[in-house]
Amino acid sequence: MKLAIQSERHSEILMEVIPVFEGGKVLHVCNSCAARVQRFIKFGRFNASLGSTYKFTKEKDLGLIKEEIYVGLGKEEEITSERIRKAIAKAIREVKKLNVEKATVRFIDLDNISTEEVVKAITEGVVFADYEFNKYKEVKEDKVCLNEVRIASVAEEKVAAAEKALEEAKVIIDSTIAARNLVNEPANVLIPEELAKRAEDMGKEYGFQVEVMHKEQIEALGMEAYLAVARGSVNEPKLIVMRYFGDEANKENITGLVGKGLTFDTGGYSLKPADYMLHMKNDMGGAAAVIGAMAAISKNKVKANVVAVVAACENVISGGSYKPGDIIGSMGGKHIEIINTDAEGRLTLADAVYYAVEKEEVTRIVDVATLTGAALIALGDTTTAVITNNDEFYSKLQKAAEACGEKVWQLPAFEEYKELIKSSVADLKNTGGRYAGTITAGLFIGEFVKNTPWLHLDIAGTAWADADKDYLTKGGTGGSVRTLYYLVKNN
Ligand code: BES
Ligand code: MG
Ligand code: ZN
Repeated sequence: MKLAIQSERHSEILMEVIPVFEGGKVLHVCNSCAARVQRFIKFGRFNASLGSTYKFTKEKDLGLIKEEIYVGLGKEEEITSERIRKAIAKAIREVKKLNVEKATVRFIDLDNISTEEVVKAITEGVVFADYEFNKYKEVKEDKVCLNEVRIASVAEEKVAAAEKALEEAKVIIDSTIAARNLVNEPANVLIPEELAKRAEDMGKEYGFQVEVMHKEQIEALGMEAYLAVARGSVNEPKLIVMRYFGDEANKENITGLVGKGLTFDTGGYSLKPADYMLHMKNDMGGAAAVIGAMAAISKNKVKANVVAVVAACENVISGGSYKPGDIIGSMGGKHIEIINTDAEGRLTLADAVYYAVEKEEVTRIVDVATLTGAALIALGDTTTAVITNNDEFYSKLQKAAEACGEKVWQLPAFEEYKELIKSSVADLKNTGGRYAGTITAGLFIGEFVKNTPWLHLDIAGTAWADADKDYLTKGGTGGSVRTLYYLVKNN
């Protein structure tokens, strides 16, 4: 989609989105439309509550029709950039129903939120809500695609800042959409080899280096836990390592981003029930998040050094699959008793984080994983659960998440929880029982990061949307791409 900034309010575009605060305050008032909004409110057509919309059609000269969508921003004193994102998403869903190719969205000029943030919120709301994954629909629905949106009425003195923000926003948006596309791609297409190929293509397009290691190389590294999970599939594992060095003067500071890359998770011999298995193509949502973040970081030339690692494989059943009761090794040397083959993600991640710390010498590390159903039970599908060994690092994550409207919440990591994953026959066992499932899963991974400052993001709830909601569309959300981007950008 083409996105642009314009200072004029009027243009040849006959579809305009007009944001309105509760009570009827329209920013950049033109007298006639302020009075009109007051009439809509007076006659009960529209109350400007957050995300409410009202369509108004008027005939222009020459028989042209101009349509206006009024969208509520809610109470002025409660406005946030996330609320702008949500409101604009609602408006865009209305715009789409009207089969137009172009629209303008009137800029929201605020004292307490910067031009930069508003531009990002509006454009993200627009593109994220407009998104559809329809590449496998041979017969496209008979409708026009929205292909150009302009932010209109930007004050002259703010145009430069708005345009600069737009350039950054476009890259962040593209990278997030790329992550959604990866998650939405079905598992018969997106096998580990294909995920590696997509990462390579994105590396060329956005400007980061990609190295793909094959089974023999993974064996040589001694990644026994990762290989135990991968063993059941005819589709071989691929270890994907992505590198971007944008801060040459600080070469010793490297952020590691490790994404869970299960291209499908059947549960293995601890087989998932059919309903739970249905959406397990999303079990590479963490990989999609770190690949998307690498794209945004490198294309926007962020001053930082980042190495991302994805241990891609699939968890399926065959005569070669690992089994409950097996005792397996790991790259870090610890032995692991397998209690449940469906707790596979932490095994692949144990080796992936160890590899990042040991071989890539990352100085702080974030792992991102659709790791536990328990995260959904605890926090629902709006909030990412976090475990850390470093509160200062967590507060940086909080700031990064706040900057983009994504939500994170820290769970405790008291040492008592570690008792739950001790095994009587090996160093660790791969599940800690029914209690505190998200915490014990995270702490398991933490056993392999040595003393490196570490954040574990359990995105089982936030990587996938069951239905269209606000600016998310059913399927992959592209969640965490933006949080990781701001975490790396703002240190
Ligand atoms: N990939 C799943 C977790 C998951 C669940 C992701 C729902 C997205 C939505 C993970 O591999 C898994 O199966 N976890 C088990 C762990 C259990 C066996 C300790 C779970 O959560 O049930
Ligand atoms: Mg599983
Ligand atoms: Zn899984």
